[in-house]
Amino acid sequence: MGSKNQTLGEFIIENQDSFKYTSGELSRLINSIRLAAKVVNHEVNKAGLVDIVGAVGDKNIQGEEQQKLDIYANDKFIQTLSNRNIVCGIASEEEDSFITINSQDENNQNKYVVLIDPLDGSSNIDVNVSVGTIFSIYRRVTPVGTPVKLEDFLQKGSEQVAAGYVVYGTSTMLVYTTGDGVNGFTLNPAIGTFYLSHPNMVFPEDGTIYSVNEGNYIDFPLGIKKYIKYCQEEEDDRPYTSRYIGSLVSDFHRNMIKGGIYMYPKGSRNPNGKLRLLYECNPMAFLAEQANGTSSDGYTRTLDVTPTELHQRVPFICGSKNMVAKVEEFMLKFGE
Ligand code: AHG
Ligand code: MN
Ligand code: MN
Repeated sequence: MGSKNQTLGEFIIENQDSFKYTSGELSRLINSIRLAAKVVNHEVNKAGLVDIVGAVGDKNIQGEEQQKLDIYANDKFIQTLSNRNIVCGIASEEEDSFITINSQDENNQNKYVVLIDPLDGSSNIDVNVSVGTIFSIYRRVTPVGTPVKLEDFLQKGSEQVAAGYVVYGTSTMLVYTTGDGVNGFTLNPAIGTFYLSHPNMVFPEDGTIYSVNEGNYIDFPLGIKKYIKYCQEEEDDRPYTSRYIGSLVSDFHRNMIKGGIYMYPKGSRNPNGKLRLLYECNPMAFLAEQANGTSSDGYTRTLDVTPTELHQRVPFICGSKNMVAKVEEFMLKFGE
């Protein structure tokens, strides 16, 4: 594992042999995410200065209003990933269907597909609150050298080979896993280099923070309602503190460092929850498990859910182990 203040570039090279497929290809992929993250970071940082805040007037396939920076980040990540000879397909929260990449290599040996939420928490951009990017990487299941198919993207989260996020916050960080723990790198904006600042990140097993949009309380399953009341009771280390930013990436990042739980349950407005299994829940669940946390839909491990469509939504409960276990206990006891 890397030493503090090592650059991300050095870390990638040093650790590429420990990756189970021993592939320089994945290293190049992480490198291109690093590059796109810097470009998007630059744009996000000047959001208040130029005419890039606000909505473009279109809605994405899920009926959500697209922000200018949603489109910008989407284009930059797709451009960066497809200009290099690395991936064979990309699926994005902002695209109706997946994109097939024609490799410049005539044998088209690219093995990886990437799924992204290019800008997470984008409704926060106008008010100078942290946003993020989430990515998830799989090996294709169809033969190399052929165009990718939907089944390459609809793999269980447990099949991920890497996942991570960028948080454009008070400082910009890239946090990722290749299945061997979670490491966080902070961008030094003066020289445009990411440094290993948070080696081997882990969720405390217990926490005292709960993050949920309580405005939806009335529609939550009974198990969740009872759990929220449990968080608010005066007993032992409770009441817990409520912290909800409304950017999954930032809420997750804080909970991982301090110990806590994030919940986006079902509700009448969101009958399957709001968060997207492939672009948001699975990458965060992989990171959580790699950082000694857990993730569940209330009953089932997120990484075991079989995806049926690209933009599928699932209830999402993620964070410190003992807290997620408590929610599952309440869901079993009180149900919907
Ligand atoms: P996105 O900006 O990619 O659509 O994601 C927003 C998500 C997530 O980041 C956040 O936690 C959640 O939506 C907030 O939803 P509510 O405003 O309904 O609480
Ligand atoms: Mn999102
Ligand atoms: Mn988004």
